[in-house]
Amino acid sequence: MTKIVILTGAGISAESGVKTFRDSNGLWEKYRIEEVASPVAWAQNPDMVLEFYNQRRKQLYEVEPNPAHYALVKLEEKFDVQIITQNVDDLHERAGSKNILHLHGELKKVRSTVDENLVYELDHWELKKGDKCEKGSQLRPHVVWFGEPVPNITKAMQISQTADIFIVIGTSLNVYPAAGLINYIAANKPKYLIDPNAANIQMISNLNIIRKKAGEGVPELVDELLGK
Ligand code: APR
Repeated sequence: MTKIVILTGAGISAESGVKTFRDSNGLWEKYRIEEVASPVAWAQNPDMVLEFYNQRRKQLYEVEPNPAHYALVKLEEKFDVQIITQNVDDLHERAGSKNILHLHGELKKVRSTVDENLVYELDHWELKKGDKCEKGSQLRPHVVWFGEPVPNITKAMQISQTADIFIVIGTSLNVYPAAGLINYIAANKPKYLIDPNAANIQMISNLNIIRKKAGEGVPELVDELLGK
């Protein structure tokens, strides 16, 4: 079965109403990365960090997957599909995609600050100071902060190497190591990048750049690949 590997970023969820990070009006215009998404921030101002992620989590309960997320599910009719997402939302899961690897963690999960293997599902939006793991330590958001290792990157590299087709959707390709995954795809394999503001990438062979919003570009590409 032909294997399609898909790397998604904040842009795929934009039309669901989730803000991206680096677009104008994006999250990093309103917040400073080092104040809300770094180990130093957590050490110095945990209240602000908790509040930032609580607001993101609260919003997640108010949004729905969009046609781009649903179109990717349809690809499973004919292909072996693996999604690698930088997003911490659960919109791929809710749309119904089967194989999803989260590179930067998951908003609806929290974890222990003394044992990173103690990960819990949070069934409500608010993580509070004083919420503790079974070993008695404060729980933190289960997200990868700037300056932290990306535990799933080796797996993501291995998966990317097996791709017959690679599709990148809605990411500025600014954040490594995720942005480097496209370099693991063999030169002769077709690659697609769907992003209305995609840069002119010239170093990657067999790359088709589709400058459209995900809600339009993804269903069109999926229909083309399914031969519809
Ligand atoms: N459809 C497709 N792409 C879109 C849309 C849309 N409707 N709207 C915006 N985009 C594109 C933008 O053009 C931009 O290239 O989505 C991309 C979003 O880029 P970023 O905001 O940088 O998000 P992302 O690449 O996912 O960020 C990577 O940075 O801050 C961290 O951990 C965070 O996982 C995140 C990582």
